[in-house]
Amino acid sequence: MQALFFLRSRSALLDALEASVDDSAVKPSTLIAILALAYLAPCVPLRSQAIAPAQIALINGYQPIWWKEAVVYQVYPRSFKDSNGDGIGDIPGITSKLDYLQKLGVNVIWLSPHYDSPNADNGYDIRDYRKVMAEFGTMADFDAMLAGIKQRHMRLIIDLVVNHTSDEHHWFVESRKSKENPYRDYYFWRDGKPGPAGPDGKPTTLPPNNDPSFFSGSAWQFDPATSQYYLHYFAVKQPDLNWDNPKVREEVYSLMRFWLDKGVDGFRMDVIPLISKNPAFPDLTPDQLHNYGNAYANGPHMHDYLQEMNRNVMAKYDVMTVGEALGISLEQTPLIVGDNRRELNMIFNFDAIRSNRDGIKLKPFDLATIKSIYTRHSEVLGKHDWDTVFLSNHDNPRLVSTFGDDSPEFRIPSAKLLATMLLTLRGTPFLYQGDELGMTNYPFKNIADFDDIEVKNAYKAQVLTGKIPEETFIANLRHTSRDNSRTPMQWDTSANGGFTTAPKPWLAENPNYAEINAASEVADPNSIYNYTSKLIALRRAHQVFVYGDYKDLDPENKSIFIYTRALGAERYLVALNFSSGPVAYTLPASVKVNSLIMSNLDTTGLVTGTLNLAGWEARIYKLR
Ligand code: NOJ
Repeated sequence: MQALFFLRSRSALLDALEASVDDSAVKPSTLIAILALAYLAPCVPLRSQAIAPAQIALINGYQPIWWKEAVVYQVYPRSFKDSNGDGIGDIPGITSKLDYLQKLGVNVIWLSPHYDSPNADNGYDIRDYRKVMAEFGTMADFDAMLAGIKQRHMRLIIDLVVNHTSDEHHWFVESRKSKENPYRDYYFWRDGKPGPAGPDGKPTTLPPNNDPSFFSGSAWQFDPATSQYYLHYFAVKQPDLNWDNPKVREEVYSLMRFWLDKGVDGFRMDVIPLISKNPAFPDLTPDQLHNYGNAYANGPHMHDYLQEMNRNVMAKYDVMTVGEALGISLEQTPLIVGDNRRELNMIFNFDAIRSNRDGIKLKPFDLATIKSIYTRHSEVLGKHDWDTVFLSNHDNPRLVSTFGDDSPEFRIPSAKLLATMLLTLRGTPFLYQGDELGMTNYPFKNIADFDDIEVKNAYKAQVLTGKIPEETFIANLRHTSRDNSRTPMQWDTSANGGFTTAPKPWLAENPNYAEINAASEVADPNSIYNYTSKLIALRRAHQVFVYGDYKDLDPENKSIFIYTRALGAERYLVALNFSSGPVAYTLPASVKVNSLIMSNLDTTGLVTGTLNLAGWEARIYKLR
């Protein structure tokens, strides 16, 4: 442990105590001090973002806080574990696997939406924010899961999807009834533009502007009940909420309090930069149409609304918030995550995860590009900001298939290498379910293999209209579809990988479950799972991996990623060979390695000025 610092809540103090028990170097006096503070600390949650900096001993200039030290694991509930044999993952299924997660060592779970939903977009279309999706279980099941998480000293953040609701949410059911309905202004309703005469000679209308939907077609849907259009940036069944209406904002704050009062520890906020819109809805320019996500983000009141949300909700609880920052550039990030801004703690920036993508097409991976992204992040996000680090989630293909090499020869080392990188870089790491097993992309063959609304709509808009040949479309999506990461977790070698006892899961299990599954990996000391677990323990035991400075030693190198993390006298070197061939890498004379801490290939402590790295080898050294 670096030094005793003033923590903000009893649970944080107890976490520190737990960590210090494993730390043989900690002094008995420090332990006593932590214990005393733990019992003197107020039981009520303290204001999360309103701590006077003077009270806190900074670490390398950073204000220490639990969510900076966390390792987050994302659970996509539909695909995690089915407990009742209906082919769909559920909450009791998650509860049954908490020991597995605890053993892995992650300490925050991000749960993708668990709310009542007609599932047009797998739960990202919410019908009732205070109800659990029936397929996932009951509120009692949720409470039991939360209690199980807390018992294991882990925390839970849930998905907050409030840019839009389901069209089956009662606010929208009311809103569409009439122009006078009290809920009318909960959403955006506009008249269409006059269109050409129809075949019957009657006038037609066109959408109010040229905004496209992320899920193909116009972002406006005509509604015959009132002959107006409503806005939906995503599916037709996902109408956008009107945040300019103070009642909408109050509703959102109130539902947030509902879940925080239950004990959840924060939120991952879905497409949060889209909440503020220009109510005039001007047409997008041809330039803006190339990247309309950017045009939709950063609306005129986005910061006001986030600050109001923080004042009204987050500041009253000890929470972690991470925004899905579609359309926010790195340069704009401090305006959301800066300590003094009182908005969100962190955001997801997609520069790295999408660095090898061009729409639905995978581009060759360029290591120098991704390294320059991480370096830029370390330059732009300073001591008063905080970053996230991730290369997978439920909207992207599998980690090892996209950034590693999922061939039989290199799947295991490359999955371990990627884990080494994610868990030693700067920022709170987010792992996605199955990464710890090295789960791979699915061998999609035809459109019937997909479930995702984004794919189905794009198929209609691009393949059925003859714009893209079917084979090209499927060949691209085999590498980039979101469904790659949504196939069920592979628990064991039994039918359907032990995910369900139903004859068929909601989305087919990857056929490679006999080879890649949790049961065999938990039992194998050399598995990706056990290697990841060791890395997590290393990160959690050494604050240098959290608060330490980051330096890329060889930014131009196309196959080797070599960097240091340094905190005072504690310095580590991470060397990653992102190629399948061996590389003899000569260290700069100034870098003096002391001892090998970890390697993904059982290298035996070779400490010389030249690192002979095998294909996809990863090593962590302590430096002198
Ligand atoms: C982002 C979510 O991650 C994605 O899964 C969803 O389809 C859209 N937002 C719409 O909610």
